Amino acid sequence: MPRDASTPAGARAVTAVAPAKINLHLGVGDVRADGYHDLLTVYRAVDLWEQVTVSLDDDEVVVTGPGAPQVPTDRTNLAARAVDLLRGEAGSDARIAIRIHKGVPVAGGMAGGSADAAAALVATDRLLGLGLGRAALEERAARLGSDVPFCIRGGTALGTGRGEKLATLLHARAEQHIVVALADGGLSTPTVFAEFDRLRAERDPADPERGLPRAGGVDPLVAALAGDDPAAVAGLLANDMEVAALSLMPALRRTLRVGREAGALHGMVSGSGPTCLFFCTDRDHAIAVAAEISEHGVAREVRVTRGPVGGAHIVDDPTGK
Ligand code: C5P
Repeated sequence: MPRDASTPAGARAVTAVAPAKINLHLGVGDVRADGYHDLLTVYRAVDLWEQVTVSLDDDEVVVTGPGAPQVPTDRTNLAARAVDLLRGEAGSDARIAIRIHKGVPVAGGMAGGSADAAAALVATDRLLGLGLGRAALEERAARLGSDVPFCIRGGTALGTGRGEKLATLLHARAEQHIVVALADGGLSTPTVFAEFDRLRAERDPADPERGLPRAGGVDPLVAALAGDDPAAVAGLLANDMEVAALSLMPALRRTLRVGREAGALHGMVSGSGPTCLFFCTDRDHAIAVAAEISEHGVAREVRVTRGPVGGAHIVDDPTGK
């Protein structure tokens, strides 16, 4: 197979991983001229990972793991778009195969597709020997999707703009143990934003903000995240999108009720849903809440995770760089 000139010797395949995100706070503002909504959000990366391997091979996209059949394998796949962006920029005609292993729920409001793009950017940068730094990769990431820069950065960060402008919250170290309850089926992010707009207009056309929960400011949450009281943090979590996700999928109300009755500190929809999150005091508590939710049959699958974790990074690079 001909080697592309920009490929360092020996780098035939590189594997990177990128984490799922949750939004500890998701405030939705007005629709902008470009159709996106202004957001004020606190992102947190959690311990569920997408794994992407890029290799000098045929131009194919292969997806494995839970939910794989729902993920496109043409060039609209977000990881493929990431590869195409960097390859185009490098002026490379290398044929690059992409293997994605799903560890994040598909269409679940946890940025699984965005994590694919983030991991693909980090891996392709290395495969083609481009040497783009974090800032340059995050800039490319923002072109691929609002959540992609955060999946590169990880940790806990304030997100503004359409979610792509990030400020890391260095002191937000309070660890969280979270039950993740997957729903039957997924929700498309644009559909949930459209439902949010519809509900906002319907409640009171003269005063569209009235009647919908508004997440408000983030200062109390940011302060609580610097402490070590999971209950204080849980009491400050907020998601404006929840009302829209519940409107589209009313069965989620029952999932939330069961999790709260099982003793979770707080239960809420993750991002645009339909995955539900339950915040717990520690890992044992999370395992007990997860068992209770499973027993009630109100989730397709239940997992226990924790956060914060770091961002996208390489896990296997034969060049040893
Ligand atoms: O940025 P991304 O491509 O992930 O967004 C998917 C869709 O979600 C957008 O096309 C838009 O409909 C909606 N969205 C939005 N406001 C945001 C982020 C996403 O309306 N801040």
